Amino acid sequence: MKWLVFLGLVAFSECIVKIPLTRVKIMRKTHSETNMLNNFLKEHAYRLNLTSSPGSNITTHPLKNIEDMLYVGNITIGTPPQEFQVVFDTASSDLWVPSVFCTSPTCVSHVMFRHLESSTFRLIRKTFSIEYGSGRMKGVVAHDTVRIGDLISTDQQFGLSVAEYGFKRIPFDGVLGLNYPNLSFTGGIPIFDNLKNHGAISEPVFAFYLSKNKTEGSVVMFGGVDHRYYQGALNWIPLIQAGDWRVHMDRISMKRQDIACSGGCEALVDTGTSLILGPRRLVNNILSLIGATPRGSKHYVSCFAVHSLPSIVFTINGINYPVPAQAYTIKDYSDDCYTTFKENTESTSTETWILGDVFLRQFFSVYDRGNDRIGLAQAV
Ligand SMILES: *[C@@H]1O[C@H](CO)[C@@H](O)[C@H](O)[C@H]1NC(C)=O
Ligand SMILES: *[C@@H]1O[C@H](CO)[C@@H](O)[C@H](O)[C@H]1NC(C)=O
Ligand SMILES: *[C@@H]1O[C@H](CO)[C@@H](O)[C@H](O)[C@H]1NC(C)=O
Ligand SMILES: *[C@@H]1O[C@H](CO)[C@@H](O)[C@H](O)[C@H]1NC(C)=O
Ligand SMILES: *[C@@H]1O[C@H](CO)[C@@H](O)[C@H](O)[C@H]1NC(C)=O
Repeated sequence: MKWLVFLGLVAFSECIVKIPLTRVKIMRKTHSETNMLNNFLKEHAYRLNLTSSPGSNITTHPLKNIEDMLYVGNITIGTPPQEFQVVFDTASSDLWVPSVFCTSPTCVSHVMFRHLESSTFRLIRKTFSIEYGSGRMKGVVAHDTVRIGDLISTDQQFGLSVAEYGFKRIPFDGVLGLNYPNLSFTGGIPIFDNLKNHGAISEPVFAFYLSKNKTEGSVVMFGGVDHRYYQGALNWIPLIQAGDWRVHMDRISMKRQDIACSGGCEALVDTGTSLILGPRRLVNNILSLIGATPRGSKHYVSCFAVHSLPSIVFTINGINYPVPAQAYTIKDYSDDCYTTFKENTESTSTETWILGDVFLRQFFSVYDRGNDRIGLAQAV
């Protein structure tokens, strides 16, 4: 596969020399002119469009809920902008979309970035690859203007996939990572860090509200917290270490009995994962406690039994976060109810749980880079 990446690189670098549009040539004339344009865009974008609603500095960006399995939002890349549907993922740190050089089925069935049509595109002679739970991709590193609604990051580093493996029937073109820069595979400054460093957002904070059961209404917000999306207290939890959205969890219990994480464990707060993942033995224990039986790759409970099943309580930093059975089971197309606990196939040295969208639909989540902490509150 190495040669494919190489061919891609040759083609990419050619395009940088042969720029087809006259307007583009002018913009690209000198380095300082490019910088002037970037500065102009930055200043004006930030000054004019800092706020999405009057009186606040928060940019609220809509996400689409795809059948309670995934939340995706639109971004644009390039000049003029090309639109992509991406997963806003708190567990990874890179932004990537498919390139026109990718011939993998998952690329050709999605929007591919037409770099020849972007006047602000710039390629780096560097390749990278990322492995996700659902698939793997290989790509090349590039720079271009990226927009998340009104937020603009000029000369933003991002990846262009040249090959994708796995990712069966994915409803997104690419991924926008919101984790710390430490975890970047492209090795550049992630988009959130650029927005933060350039003062595009007033506070180094973003937050997610994930709607239940309906396509519309979910949002990711940048620069602050819109209090209308939660009720009660916003509880802050320090990160185990700056560099990953991972916290210490005290226990997982049901009817006041510990059922996992007794003596403490780690929890990764992950908007890019649909379910709640944990070590196999403990997941199997929970499945048997709620009377779930395997069918295919899932475990089912009777839909009639759901209302009588107890909540499962995640205790984090001394606060209980109960997830009711209506939330930890999902009705499928044939009206059967499957459970949302699944084995984490990636083995870890310490007991680690991944709190995905099932958990985050219940709890509004705030990611505070200024204080290296996560906030959780009861979602409205
Ligand atoms: C800022 O927003 C206004 C209205 O929402 C829009 O007309 C304008 O083009 C935007 N400016 C930039 C630089 O994106
Ligand atoms: C918006 O941001 C500006 C500059 O960062 C700040 O002075 C102002 O207080 C902020 N307004 C709100 C409502 O947060
Ligand atoms: C993304 O843009 C398309 C049109 O380009 C629109 O139909 C869709 O609703 C948008 N998605 C979100 C989440 O706003
Ligand atoms: C979710 O939608 C299903 C039908 O699609 C409905 O039966 C159920 O009551 C809805 N639940 C909520 C909480 O709105
Ligand atoms: C990640 O980067 C932060 C600074 O942003 C640093 O304090 C921390 O030690 C790094 N963590 C790891 C695991 O490298």
